[in-house]
Amino acid sequence: MPTEGATQSKEKTEVRHDRLTDLKREGVAEITCELRRLLADAFALYLKTKNFHWHMAGQHFRDYHLLLDEHADQVFAMTDDIAERARKIGGTTLRSIGDISRHQRLKDNDAERAAPKEMLAELTTDNQALTRYFRSAHETCEKYNDVATASLIEVWIDQTERRTWFLSEIVQGLRSSE
Ligand SMILES: [Fe+2]
Repeated sequence: MPTEGATQSKEKTEVRHDRLTDLKREGVAEITCELRRLLADAFALYLKTKNFHWHMAGQHFRDYHLLLDEHADQVFAMTDDIAERARKIGGTTLRSIGDISRHQRLKDNDAERAAPKEMLAELTTDNQALTRYFRSAHETCEKYNDVATASLIEVWIDQTERRTWFLSEIVQGLRSSE
């Protein structure tokens, strides 16, 4: 039997949920979970892109350094919208770096050194994986008719595919010049 405190807290949650959205409660739970993992992946990708921006070297340093800065800015810009989307429907989101590491699916790269081609190829793969995660989250949004989150995700997929395009063209060029 729930305590009085627990009952009150459940009522408060229900009131908050009803006030914020007409989405089904289980929809909010599932979409919030998807958004939390997407946010962790976005932070992981942001830091890896910055890592490679900072540690880039070689003949095309300036081009790659600038490209990765542009990509990092774009990934970082998504983070606030992902987090606030969860709050708008009554969910919660990440609270710390530890929380990011517990939820991220993209892997960190702590290598001391990496060749430019390896860095760009890894970012290509990570951006492709991120597109798959977005697409899967989009399916969850469709299941619960959350058109607003789905519409944001569509824009993020387009941006992520653009980053993938640029990165993969460079990697192909480097491979064919070997
Ligand atoms: Fe910089």
